[in-house]
Amino acid sequence: MENLQQVTHIDNVRLAEDGSAVIYIDQTQLPGRTIYKEARQPREMYDAIYQLQVRGAPCIGIFAAYSIAVLAAGIDAPDFDSFYAEYKKQSDYLNSSRPTAVNLSKQLARMDACCRANAGAYRTGLLEALRAEARAIHQEDIDMCYAISDYGLSLLKDGDTVLTHCNAGPLATSRYGTGQGPFYLAKERGMDIKAYADETRPLLQGARLTSYELQKAGVDVTLICDNMASMVMKQGKIQACMVGCDRVARNGDAANKIGTSGVAVLAKYYGIPFYVLGPSSTIDFTCPTGDDIEIELRDPDEIKTKFYAEPVALPEVKCYNPAFDVTDHSLITAIVTERGICYPPFDESFRRLFPEQYAAGEKEVPGK
Ligand code: MRU
Repeated sequence: MENLQQVTHIDNVRLAEDGSAVIYIDQTQLPGRTIYKEARQPREMYDAIYQLQVRGAPCIGIFAAYSIAVLAAGIDAPDFDSFYAEYKKQSDYLNSSRPTAVNLSKQLARMDACCRANAGAYRTGLLEALRAEARAIHQEDIDMCYAISDYGLSLLKDGDTVLTHCNAGPLATSRYGTGQGPFYLAKERGMDIKAYADETRPLLQGARLTSYELQKAGVDVTLICDNMASMVMKQGKIQACMVGCDRVARNGDAANKIGTSGVAVLAKYYGIPFYVLGPSSTIDFTCPTGDDIEIELRDPDEIKTKFYAEPVALPEVKCYNPAFDVTDHSLITAIVTERGICYPPFDESFRRLFPEQYAAGEKEVPGK
């Protein structure tokens, strides 16, 4: 259990004691090296997110909240109005680092509201309020991850093997994770739940992060290449699929790491339940369908060279490198949130479970 505790209680992102930096694990160096870095400047924070040193939707949101709290303390302004003009500029800059995971913009919006609400306490009280808000966001994610893992585990039975894609474990979130949370909770409770982890091309989050975390925690994990998922399903090895998410639309369409929708199509074909696990901070209540989700397009070199000693394609070859895809709601058996398990029609389930956020989101729909 000691190793399990180490994995599920890792401090992947935190605020420095004196509030002058965000300290985080550089996930691009895993599994080989566990390197903690400190970000103090806007550019370092932007790069940490863009380069996936800090990644996973909830983790990006938490990191951004701590980051803006750090940056706010560095703004030298005589009054709130001039402070806020600079604050907004830096917040918008951080927000432009990645487009798909809604947690980034949502947590920055929450920090922004906290900033404006404490305008009267400029400067010491306001800075303290921002740090407290960032810590609250982090603590809420810890609580949500545990609840999601618990609900997720209730969908499984002892002896099941579950296929997962990308990394939605402790590194991508807080403590237990979402898509991989049930594995850790099962281990803690003495249940036998095995994992198959897709390697997750092109950046190999499944191989580098998921199989590393699960193996370290003592979970029985088997790593496969993405194109082997069909075969293990056909062989009857998989009883369920569980993945995280980056943005879920109101109708249940769910954006997650590229390749997720292919897994869902296969699962449907083989009659295997496909579950999406995510906190309400990942549901975009303003977004009607998956067609409204912006998909991040990344550097073609990630396909041609990244993580390989030798190039794997001609440098001049044309590449298309979308970082995410959207799984159609018709392929999803259930969406597991911190307040419970949502079944289709997802729109109605979300409205029932999150009435305030749903109503507020509906009002905010762009163009409405
Ligand atoms: O590009 P990444 O590594 O940030 O993509 C991460 C994912 O797709 C995760 O599955 C998702 O953010 C959920 S993390 C709980």
